[in-house]
Amino acid sequence: MTAEEEMTNRIVDLKGVSRVIPALDLTKPEKYRALMRELRDLVKIVKVSWVTLLTIGPEGLRKLILDNSDVYFLMDAKLADVNFINGLIAGRLREIGIRGVIMHGFVGSVNVPRVEDLDLILLASMTSGGELYDTNFDYVIKIVKDVNAAGVVIGGNKPNLIARARAILGSGYVILSPGIGAQGVKPGCAIAHGADFEIVGRAIYESSNPREAFIRIEDEARRADINRCK
Ligand code: XMP
Repeated sequence: MTAEEEMTNRIVDLKGVSRVIPALDLTKPEKYRALMRELRDLVKIVKVSWVTLLTIGPEGLRKLILDNSDVYFLMDAKLADVNFINGLIAGRLREIGIRGVIMHGFVGSVNVPRVEDLDLILLASMTSGGELYDTNFDYVIKIVKDVNAAGVVIGGNKPNLIARARAILGSGYVILSPGIGAQGVKPGCAIAHGADFEIVGRAIYESSNPREAFIRIEDEARRADINRCK
């Protein structure tokens, strides 16, 4: 059995196994391999983005995934088209090895496609701006269950919304929180309020020692303590 076959297909199964998701928003192609070489044995999930696709292209991404076949690759596509197009894009991403796709929740349940063997995660609240999201928060959280999404993205600087989503969704869904590190949220604080994973970009990839940065942030996230977060 290959490492890929052994690996779980679903992000919900990685809850508790790993808490930090490095975001690879690198603008130099050669940095992808180098960073993954440093992190490969530590990370379970990495997040890639349009920056990734525009820097290394679909073939480069496919190769990166193949070279790191025991890592779950999550694409932050922030899709917001009609169902048919969202489905085509998500399907293409699955074909190149992506296992989870982030899309906007505001497009509504009719525009969330079903793609075999792919987790869809809905953006429900942003760290900055996106005010319309927060006035419609319960709506997006409600459709998570309706469309059988894997979970939601909620800014790490919105602890009350994280806690609210957790209370509504229960434990069968994932909550991912960006905003940790470079944007000021302390590692562990989104998790202390109910998130499962903290998304960390610059605080890892801009560090002089990304491996040490990952280990330190993962350790702080593991020791999440709500009293440190007030
Ligand atoms: P940094 O470098 O700030 O990167 O750790 C954050 C990553 O998370 C993605 N992302 C968001 N970032 N607010 C954010 O600040 C959001 O609502 C959000 N949603 C996703 C971002 O694209 C980057 O990869």
